[in-house]
Amino acid sequence: MTTDARRVIVVGSGIAGLYAALAAAERSGPADEPAVTLLTKDRLRDSNTWYAQGGIAAVTPDSAATGDSVASHVADTLAAGAHAGDPAAVELLCRDAWEHVERVVAAGADFDRGPDGFALGLEGAHTHARILHHGGDATGAGIASALIRACRAAEADGRLRIREGAFVTDLLQHDDGAVAGVRLLPSGAGETADELAGDAVVLATGGIGRIFEFTTNPAGATGDGAALADRAGARLADVEFVQFHPTLLDAAAVRAVAGEGPAPTLMISEAVRGEGAVLLDGNGRRFMPGIDPRAELAPRDVVARAIHAARRATGAVHLDARHLERERGAGFLARRFPGIYAGLGAVGLDPARETIPVAEAQHYWMGGIATDTSGRTSLPGLYAVGEVACTGVHGANRLASNSLLEGLVFSWRAVDAILAGPGRPAGATTVSRHGSDRASASRRVSALADVSTAGLGARLRRLAARDLAVVRDGRGLRAAAVATANIAAEAERRLGSQPASRETHELANGALIAHRIACAALDRERSLGAHFRSDARTGAARTTDTRDETEEAHAPEHFAAARH
Ligand code: SIN
Repeated sequence: MTTDARRVIVVGSGIAGLYAALAAAERSGPADEPAVTLLTKDRLRDSNTWYAQGGIAAVTPDSAATGDSVASHVADTLAAGAHAGDPAAVELLCRDAWEHVERVVAAGADFDRGPDGFALGLEGAHTHARILHHGGDATGAGIASALIRACRAAEADGRLRIREGAFVTDLLQHDDGAVAGVRLLPSGAGETADELAGDAVVLATGGIGRIFEFTTNPAGATGDGAALADRAGARLADVEFVQFHPTLLDAAAVRAVAGEGPAPTLMISEAVRGEGAVLLDGNGRRFMPGIDPRAELAPRDVVARAIHAARRATGAVHLDARHLERERGAGFLARRFPGIYAGLGAVGLDPARETIPVAEAQHYWMGGIATDTSGRTSLPGLYAVGEVACTGVHGANRLASNSLLEGLVFSWRAVDAILAGPGRPAGATTVSRHGSDRASASRRVSALADVSTAGLGARLRRLAARDLAVVRDGRGLRAAAVATANIAAEAERRLGSQPASRETHELANGALIAHRIACAALDRERSLGAHFRSDARTGAARTTDTRDETEEAHAPEHFAAARH
């Protein structure tokens, strides 16, 4: 016997989660008890998507006039990814782009237009201007607002249930490992954990930036979905490929001038370099033309590493957009990049008159839960879409503005697969595999027991910023593998012995993923794309499979047991 309606649970409310929920809801009938549930741990708008500036890459029907084509978008995506991507997945991504742009426009999103149609921007490693944007530099907020409105309408219509403030602590599984639903953190003291059964769970939980000290990501990006999937036994892939954005506003430099205050997290979109802004080192010298013929528009990994080196050598790097204002007329920067202009203004910087201090910062994760091109993971019933998924489209370094696009194309395909797939036998028992692990973890003695959970989070972020950064080496990675395992084990111990808090769950998730990154980065001895080993060419890197050795020799017991 199989269940008739597909009960779909979507976890996460960035572009991929909203679009998946909407796609599933639109195809299920109104009901007293909607078959589709969208869970998000904060508010619907709290996602990386909301902050996306640059835009969404797509070849439009008008693109032929500029010589652009889907084949060219495919070639750029594969080249930026150091040819480590999956050509078939990239082909789907670029081929289906326009269809999904049209769907989000139909859902109420809009993109900036010029006299000849869409105003297309240019970003690093694109051979053609093909970036659609909204509100100049508010593309993510524009698309997310439209999708949130559409999801609210589906909710009002009885097709979708939305639960904000719902933090998923575990995946429920059938005895055979197939995913059967989720468990939620109790909503208050004395409350019991809520469990939700589903035929399909779609993880769309986004990125991992908050594992790092310097990141463009908002507070919720703690690697939750990948950690849930990992603990349930799903396969992760390419986890060592972490992307660093070249130009986060250098908060320390701003503070040195403006005095102490809350550190502003302001990304300066690659689209600013696309319009012609250049990078200057601490001596005021433009350095990118000597590093790559594409200069400031080289692939993001190349520019981020060059900035890292220039900051070390000369003390600072600045982005100079002053000439744009002279060349394009007064007010150009405020018109084209209103959000960035206002953000800089808030810290007393006028980009029309001053250069902007910048530094590289964690931005995106190419790795994640391994999926096929329909979002299927290695566990039946579990799907992953958006940044938490590793579809293979980004290879070792994502091409700018391909992430919103990936969220649309592969969410849609995942929903197609869920609705077409077989239902589960009814009545199978469900288990959560982690309760007993945590109970036994709670009995361990730990050297970190006296450090507060906030203190452990700060340690994790500092060590990730140092050892899992834009330049890595074996020594740092080995130290990181051990330290992250210890922090993860301590977090698990607390989850087993204290009333579980969201902060402790997020620490456990972030530390587990940081551990996986450290081990995979140690294992990959040669540099590729965003993974750069300073010891790769000196022969100092080890030649044996150090991941197994590191995990088994240094990781606490339950870590070794959790490997698969
Ligand atoms: C940016 O606007 O620079 C970021 C775009 C992206 O990450 O794709």
